[in-house]
Amino acid sequence: MTLPTHNKALEIFEEVCLETDKLDIEKGKIPQTSRKHFLAVAECAKKIAKNCKNLDPEKAYICGLLHDCGQPSENRDCNKFHGLVGYHKMMEMGFDEVARTCLTHSFPEYDFKPERFSYTHSEMVLCRNLINNISYNDYDLLIQYSDMLCKGGLVTTLKDRIIYIMNTYKISIKDARIRYRIMLKIKKHFDKLCGQDTYCLLGIKND
Ligand SMILES: [Fe+2]
Repeated sequence: MTLPTHNKALEIFEEVCLETDKLDIEKGKIPQTSRKHFLAVAECAKKIAKNCKNLDPEKAYICGLLHDCGQPSENRDCNKFHGLVGYHKMMEMGFDEVARTCLTHSFPEYDFKPERFSYTHSEMVLCRNLINNISYNDYDLLIQYSDMLCKGGLVTTLKDRIIYIMNTYKISIKDARIRYRIMLKIKKHFDKLCGQDTYCLLGIKND
C-alpha cells in the first residue's frame, strides 16, 4: 500500500487545480472553487483523523486533497466519471491508497445499483466490480463523510449538503433519503471514534 509524500501530493494537487481553474474560466465559472473544496475536504478529514486513535491525519489529509483529482476529465466530458478517472490516475502513479478513496468517495451506498447513476453504464459497472473486491475501511468512510460535509470550501451540515445536491444534480428524493440515512450512520461512526460530536469538532452549527 503506497501513498504520495506530502510534497508530491501538493504537486499533484496544484496540477489538478490549474486544470480545473482553466476549465472554469473557459466555461465562465468562478475559478478556485474546486481548489477550495479539495482543501476543505483535506482539512476536515485531517481534523477528524487527529481525534481517532486508529487513523493517520497525514494520510487522511492526502486522500482528502486528491479525492477529486479526476475532476478535470469530467469537467471536460460530463460522461467521464471523475471517481474512475482519479482511480486510474492514482493507480498508474502507484498510489493505491489514494486511488481507492478517489473511487469510493462517490459511493456511500456500498451496494449501489449502476443504473441509478447518469454516467456511462459500463463505467458504473466497472466501479461496481472494483468495489465488490474491497470492504470499506475508515479512510473510505472518512473521505465520503468529509466530502459530504464540504459544500465547495464551506463546511456545513449533512442536511444542508443533501438539499444542495438534490437541487444541483437533480437526484430523486428517494436517492437523497438513502444517501442522507447512510451519511448519518457514518457521522455516528466518527462521533463514536472521536468520542465527541464531529459537528462540534468541525465548528458546524446544527440547525
Ligand atoms: Fe469532492
